[in-house]
Amino acid sequence: MDEKIVRDAKERLPRLDLNDELREKLLPYCRLKRGDIWEDELSGHRVGVLDASSEEDLKKLMGSEAVSLVVNDPPYNLKVGKSATKSLFKLSIEEYIDFSRSWVSNVAKHLQDDAHFYVWLGADQNDGLQPLPDFMIMMRDFDVFKARSFITLRNQRGYGSQKNWMWARQELLYYVKGNPDFKVTYTDIPKVLKGYYKTVKGKLTENLERSRSDTIRPGNVWIDVQQVFYRMEENVPGCYAQKPLKAIERIIESSSKEGEIVLDCFSHSGCTLVAGEKSDRKVFTCDLDPVFAEITIRRLERYRKTKKTGWQWQNPFPEIDLVR
Ligand SMILES: C[S@@+](CC[C@H](N)C(=O)[O-])C[C@H]1O[C@@H](n2cnc3c(N)ncnc32)[C@H](O)[C@@H]1O
Repeated sequence: MDEKIVRDAKERLPRLDLNDELREKLLPYCRLKRGDIWEDELSGHRVGVLDASSEEDLKKLMGSEAVSLVVNDPPYNLKVGKSATKSLFKLSIEEYIDFSRSWVSNVAKHLQDDAHFYVWLGADQNDGLQPLPDFMIMMRDFDVFKARSFITLRNQRGYGSQKNWMWARQELLYYVKGNPDFKVTYTDIPKVLKGYYKTVKGKLTENLERSRSDTIRPGNVWIDVQQVFYRMEENVPGCYAQKPLKAIERIIESSSKEGEIVLDCFSHSGCTLVAGEKSDRKVFTCDLDPVFAEITIRRLERYRKTKKTGWQWQNPFPEIDLVR
């Protein structure tokens, strides 16, 4: 069976959430078990095998520290592919909102007075578009958070049948606590709008002359971020829900400063950790699954050693090639 898995896969490690047998095989190679926290000697990053919905677990991860930026990408309560799995579960909407309320209130206890709070979420077109609107309404119960924006990341490719609009979007909710600093960032997309004249200090100027950049700002529809697939260097085989580094780097750059701590309670492939390492932020992160926590640590180690941001199609667990 294992040989078949590897032969059939484009990537050297297939989706881990769909293959319990393979996950079990990887567990002996994971240095952390449930409740453990790894602390990075070099930059002070932390990676734990913890439950974001447990107040105690989050306290353990944070210690006495408070963060100014949270970037969380929880399971979306929808089936990816054909099956709901342990790490990508499908609950009733009431249970899902209870779970969300728990992790949001846990996170809220570890924020600085001024902080940014980002959450990736989805809407299931096959199930009443839950849980996105339910989550948004739940967030209104948290007086501490003010809604700031609703960002859509437009995927280059979509999915769906010929009988419906292609689903080509990922949603990112943006809230703030207090009044944190926000730094304007720019895309690589050149400005093309010309001829918008305005008189400034008695001189007629064209809008490109007045601009701070030759490229456009991202706005709240991001069209310049490629979703991750197996030919990209940053791809992490085995992970089924990886976010693009470019998106996380944009969030980190606009909403935090060097040396600050970024929190991500749903690490998975470790993209927040790598994005934080690249931009001199400290990252505290965790995942309920020891395999994803191990992948997160290995991804950081690989980045430091090779400057490669992922494994492309290669195996983050070369040990299992030896075992075969
Ligand atoms: C959507 S993925 C996150 C993807 C991540 N942003 C990335 O780019 O790789 C969700 C992750 O949350 C983890 N998870 C599920 N329930 C959790 C919980 N209660 N606490 C912590 N992690 C959890 C899953 O194991 C999965 O790896």
